Amino acid sequence: TMDLHEQARQILRGNDRGGYTLPTHGLYPYQWNWDSAFAAWGFATFDIARAWDEFDTLLASQWDTGMVPHIIFHEVDPSYFPGPDVWSTGQSPATSGISQPPVAATMARLVWEMDKAAGHDRLAEIYPKLVAWHRWWHEVRCVHGPAAIIHPWESGRDNCPDWDIGMDGVDGSRVGPYTRRDTGHVDPSMRPHKEQYDRYIAMVQFGVSVGWDQRQIVADGPFLMADPGITFILLRAHADLIVLGEVLGHDTSEIEGWAAQLRSALPEIWNADLGAYDARNLRNGRFAGVLGSGALLAYVADAGNPTLDEHLIRVWDAVSYGIPSADPQADIFDARRYWRGPSWPFLNALIALGFREMGRHDLDARLRRETAQAIAKNGFAEYFDPHDATACGGANFTWTAAIWLTWAG
Ligand code: DGY
Repeated sequence: TMDLHEQARQILRGNDRGGYTLPTHGLYPYQWNWDSAFAAWGFATFDIARAWDEFDTLLASQWDTGMVPHIIFHEVDPSYFPGPDVWSTGQSPATSGISQPPVAATMARLVWEMDKAAGHDRLAEIYPKLVAWHRWWHEVRCVHGPAAIIHPWESGRDNCPDWDIGMDGVDGSRVGPYTRRDTGHVDPSMRPHKEQYDRYIAMVQFGVSVGWDQRQIVADGPFLMADPGITFILLRAHADLIVLGEVLGHDTSEIEGWAAQLRSALPEIWNADLGAYDARNLRNGRFAGVLGSGALLAYVADAGNPTLDEHLIRVWDAVSYGIPSADPQADIFDARRYWRGPSWPFLNALIALGFREMGRHDLDARLRRETAQAIAKNGFAEYFDPHDATACGGANFTWTAAIWLTWAG
């Protein structure tokens, strides 16, 4: 059998479309924002120039407002829904109308550290774009303090239980007929339910109805929730961007200001009843009341604490293959349904970055071992059943291959 490292490299090459990488064939036939950043990290282990190209194609899609969209539709592919005609953003290249977790600065720092000489000029080119994107988050999405999302897809953790209370307020009954494509590519029991999908589409239709005016969507849209996941990822990305800015000789005081502001907003997403960070419906102040993967991303921004540590160990000890994306002891837990239970290798890798920096090498080693065991057992799947490592979602997945090369393998 082929060495797993060679298999991982072949997956990246096979998903490469010349400058950008598909998350996987079939299910995701375009460039996705945060998938792309992890692809760059993976490429950096064997082709550093190609790694930087990935950031270039991602950031070439940046809107004038600074937003970097979550999907870039380079070549129309009818096997995906909702495509560019549904989003109808009027952008060129065609894109979706929402963003995705800003991990790019963190991944750019990791790639730059792997070869500083090769990376310097490439970094200098993308740095102002990353700053503009972070500024967009603050001006448009952090107006209530923590980072807010206007659509569950913006969180990248589409159907996680965090969004249930916000989704309840979205009317999905009038979206009209449409055909899902995702359930033609993978087992429907591993994907979101139809009631959720109708609401996802209703939120897209609202965006179209206001010409994707992001301030209006934040003010009047059907869904607005504080996302602990993006809040922590952005906080972490600010710290990485400051390091990169200093290397390039830029004044980083504006970024330092954002970081301080965001950190001071963390108490707003701490649910004392739950004893954890929690998503919050910004229309009425209510907490989701569930422990999810977003809360555990606190570690990547050095925002953990002993109370959260207890939850971490409790949910982790309840399974065998990495950190589950929902609480196995909660009613909403569903071991194979996307973000409602499965263990996601790339998310484990992100949380582990935090563990390492805190000096928690025991936790890093455990997470790496369990993630590697799942991959070695059942391949480079999108996500895994955390109990028995059953491969779930798409196969030959880019970010799973990337984290094998950089961390798990
Ligand atoms: C999908 O199509 O399920 C994607 O997650 C949306 O970004």
